This record gives sequence, structure tokens and C-alpha cells, in this order.
Amino acid sequence: MSSSSKLFSPFTLGALTLPNRIAMAPMTRCRATNPAIAPTPMMVEYYGLRADAGLIVSEGIPVSRQARGYAFTPGLYSAEQVAGWQAVTQEVHKQGGRIFAQLWHCGRISHGSLRDDNAPPVGPSTLPANGKSLALDRATGQPALTQCEAPRALTTAEVKGVIGEFVQAAQNAIAAGFDGVEIHGANGYLLDQFRCPYLNDRRDEYGGSLENRCRLHLDIAREVAAAVGPERVGIRLSPLGQANDMKPDPEPMTTYAYLAGELQKIGLIYLHLYDQSMSWVHDPASELLKMLRATFTHALMLCGGFDAAKSEAALAAGSGDLIAIGKPFISNPDLVSRLRQGVEIAPWDSKTFYLGGHSGYLDYPTFSV
Ligand SMILES: Cc1cc2nc3c(=O)[nH]c(=O)nc-3n(C[C@H](O)[C@H](O)[C@H](O)COP(=O)(O)O)c2cc1C
Repeated sequence: MSSSSKLFSPFTLGALTLPNRIAMAPMTRCRATNPAIAPTPMMVEYYGLRADAGLIVSEGIPVSRQARGYAFTPGLYSAEQVAGWQAVTQEVHKQGGRIFAQLWHCGRISHGSLRDDNAPPVGPSTLPANGKSLALDRATGQPALTQCEAPRALTTAEVKGVIGEFVQAAQNAIAAGFDGVEIHGANGYLLDQFRCPYLNDRRDEYGGSLENRCRLHLDIAREVAAAVGPERVGIRLSPLGQANDMKPDPEPMTTYAYLAGELQKIGLIYLHLYDQSMSWVHDPASELLKMLRATFTHALMLCGGFDAAKSEAALAAGSGDLIAIGKPFISNPDLVSRLRQGVEIAPWDSKTFYLGGHSGYLDYPTFSV
């Protein structure tokens, strides 16, 4: 570690002092295999081992049963789930860490088998996704990658209900001891689906104009911030992203300038940018990145293919304040000390990302062991 390292310098995020600029990126691991779909003791250990991160952002947490898109993803909408997360946050705090809950609605990236009544997915419109969801095989109860089912379009009243679910989940997150929440506005899930002009054919206040297509992001941000305090709320966006059968936004400079400007007015504490192409977020000359940095003046978190050198370069260039790292955290529980000491990063096994119980979850050793 060079003496000019910014990566290992502290950062003030609202009421929190992060000891370094490394965030653990949100990563779904599908380990909640119990009937309550609540966090398990295995998850308590997994998150506790990673408490050296400046900030942990939890795996995507469905805000309701309807919000689910993958098997075994622990929610935050029942008392058992809140109790399960409480054990996780207590362990992270005991180990000296900080953790935000990522609040998630999958929208059309989903399958009826994830719900007892087989309720189909919902979305801004009835347009189906050409993509897969980790559904449940009804006969065996086992997870199986399955084509997403066609959604039904949410009514306007139901959209208001979804906003209420985010507010309730945020309140539950605080009750469970999380330090804050990150609204999942990225990656082709419900909020991103509403933003997308190719998917959103609505005629109500949530469709048509740019302002209307971004209204779901902003209503949720505003109401969640009012409920738990804007200094405890971040949001994730994936400009130009194509995951989950999305097409890049036709006017990204206009769309994201509007969103970033309005999110700034609401006072959210951070904007988390995930560049799925791992390109523009590494380029300090990127017009998109420069515009977002200038428009959103609270903390900017960057994600997508960062290692220690790329993180230092982005921080030194002033492109962002925090760097979120994903896959290396899966296979290196002690990632922060490895990066600090320049120790080799162990490879991850993508076969056990979403399946595997203990295997591929708690059996990656720390360097010092
Ligand atoms: C196993 C796995 C699960 C993920 N789950 C989520 C998720 O729940 N929410 C989310 O916003 N991104 C999710 N992502 C994306 C990561 O947060 C991150 O953006 C991505 O891995 C790129 O960062 P990296 O190059 O450092 O791995 C996931 C990625 C992986 C590999």
C-alpha cells in the first residue's frame, strides 16, 4: 500500500465513519432455504467475516412476496425475516462493520412458482422478459433456472402499494439494525423497467414522459428518505445496462441527469453506479461519469471490475468517493486486508454463486489461516 493510498483512507457517510473506501457490492446468494425465507446462522457468519469492508451492501432483499424473483432470497417483510437480519447486523457491528440493506423488487424477472398462490410476475407493462429467473421446481422443491413468466401490468393503485412496501421494508431494515438502505434502481428490475421507454407503455402518471417514467424511482426515494432519514438512504443505478433483457437508454445523458439531479434534491446520501460493461466507470474522461459526478454532489460509489489499482486510479482522478467490489468478496472473506497487503486474490467459483449451501459460501479460507 502506497502512502498516497486513498482507498484505505476514511470517509464520512452521513453519521457513519467508514474506515476505508471499499464497499462490498450487493450479491444475491440464495442461501435462505427455510420456509420463512429468513436469514440463517450461515448468513450471520458470512457477513460477519466481511465486516472489514468500509460498508457492506447486503444482497438484494425482496420487499414483499410479489417482489421475489429468485428462490431462497431472504426478505424483510415478516417478523421472522426481521429477526434473522437482526442477527446479521448484530454480528457485523460486533465485528466492527457497517451494513446497508439493498431493497429489491424484481418486477417481470420472476416466476409464479416463487409464490404459494402461483401469482405471476408484475411489471410496468405486459411485455415479457427474455431471461431466466431462479424458480422452484414444484415437483421436487428444488431451484431451477427457468424462463421468466409474462408479467401483468401493475395498476396505478398497485404502484402506490409498491412504494408503501419499500417504505415498510426500509423501516423494517432500521428495526433490524441496518445502518441504512440502498434502493435497487438498477439491472433491469422493477424500477429500471419503469424507466425504460421500450418497456413502459403506461398511460398513467408512471408512463410516457421522462418525468413519469422516473417517477417510481423518485417517489420511492422521497418516501423512504422521509421515513428513515435521507442520510440513511442510497440508491443504485446502472446507466447503459443491458442485464435482464434491457436495451440501453436512448438518451442516457438526459435521463440520468434528470434522475441524478432529482435524487440530489431529495438528499440521498449516495448514488451507486454499476457499469455492467466495466468501461466508462473506469474512464475519468467519460462524459456520462463527469455529468453524474457534477450533478450528484453527495457520495458517488462506483462498481464494475475494480481491483486495488483501478480503485486507486478512480479515487485519485476524483471520479468517485467509494468503490464497490463484488465477486472478489465472495472468494476472499478478508479481501480488505488482502488488498491492503497486496496479497493474491483467490478465484471464485461461479457454480456456487446461487447454489451450494455451505460450499462456495463459508469454505473460502482467509489468507492468514
Ligand atoms: C453472485 C452475484 C450476485 C449479485 N447480486 C446482486 C444483487 O442482489 N443486487 C445487485 O444490485 N447486484 C448484484 N450483483 C452485481 C454486483 O453487485 C456487482 O455489481 C458485480 O458483481 C460487478 O462487480 P465486480 O466486477 O466487482 O464483481 C451480483 C453479482 C454477483 C456475482
